[in-house]
Amino acid sequence: MNKHIRCATALALTLGTLIASTSALAQQGPKPEQLIKWRQSAYQVLAWNTGRIKANVEGQYNKDEVVKAANAIAAIANSGLGSLFAPGTETGKGWKETTVKPELFTDKKAGEIAGQFNKEANELARLASAGDAAAVKVQLGKLQGTCKACHDDFRKKD
Ligand code: HEC
Repeated sequence: MNKHIRCATALALTLGTLIASTSALAQQGPKPEQLIKWRQSAYQVLAWNTGRIKANVEGQYNKDEVVKAANAIAAIANSGLGSLFAPGTETGKGWKETTVKPELFTDKKAGEIAGQFNKEANELARLASAGDAAAVKVQLGKLQGTCKACHDDFRKKD
């Protein structure tokens, strides 16, 4: 083999390896720590917005505020939170040590509660835009029932 061809072959091999290892990295996706941070953040934003709606139904009702909060909740519920519970995130630290119970990854009841949570969140957004404060109050209670159901079974006490 002449020297130039050998050089070109070596370069092609090196590039090939680089490309292969880059795409392997891409396929691995975000690190567990990142996924746990995201889900903890998502739940904090849910708590912010359920709190805003609670304040509205218990005090002065402001339809615009409630619509904003309910739409934020529905958007998070519809965003596919399940993907933040990837294998490898059963334990570990995000912003803090995860409080998920390992059962969430194996018990199909978790998926059922998550589906119920989605349904109640979308219904809350619908009622919020209709502007019926009494109905929003009842629906907020239903939504919070799904938060509690999941936490009781699948989240360790802080
Ligand atoms: C399908 C299950 C499920 C539902 C539904 C659910 N949660 Fe959670 N929640 C969890 C799990 C699991 C964690 C622990 C996340 C972690 O630490 O990795 C959590 C954590 C939290 C946290 C603490 C976040 C942190 O900083 O560590 C808050 C606040 C919270 N949820 C609020 C809510 C509210 C409000 C709702 C309803 C509007 C809700 N959750 C619905 C499972 C659920």
